[in-house]
Amino acid sequence: MKKILFICLGNICRSPMAEFVCKDMLEERGLSRLCHVESAATSYEEQGNPVHPGTRRVLAEHGITCKGKTARRMDVQDYSDFDYLIGMDSSNIRSIHRICGGDPEGKVHKLLEFCGDSSDVADPWYTGDFQATWRDVNRGVSALLDKLFPD
Ligand code: 4NP
Repeated sequence: MKKILFICLGNICRSPMAEFVCKDMLEERGLSRLCHVESAATSYEEQGNPVHPGTRRVLAEHGITCKGKTARRMDVQDYSDFDYLIGMDSSNIRSIHRICGGDPEGKVHKLLEFCGDSSDVADPWYTGDFQATWRDVNRGVSALLDKLFPD
């Protein structure tokens, strides 16, 4: 069983999109039983809040539900509990390192790394462009699953 935690600043826009896209792709590939997926925040800013309407909408357009998900802040225990801690941007990576006290087991990655791309996932917080986030999240998660479960 592989355990993946997707992480962003607030856990209401980018990382929940990655969580539910990943669950959908696992289902499609018949791999759901082999992987546990969650998402979390690096800040307490949105603690307990539901997924942002922009992310809910773009997921719903693709027949994906994120019902019941509320934001939670990650903690150092997550470093032991998960195999992959995947941030959406470079600032997330710095925060994850700070919260976990480093990355001794090499579990922390930036999502688009798996596409051989050093860029950040498009942040819809100021732009309102959830479609750009959707495209980045999809190519990142698809590349991640290709690496974790090569056929
Ligand atoms: P997320 O988006 O990190 O993708 O969930 C944001 C959510 C909240 C804030 C910024 C980005 N904020 O400043 O509260």
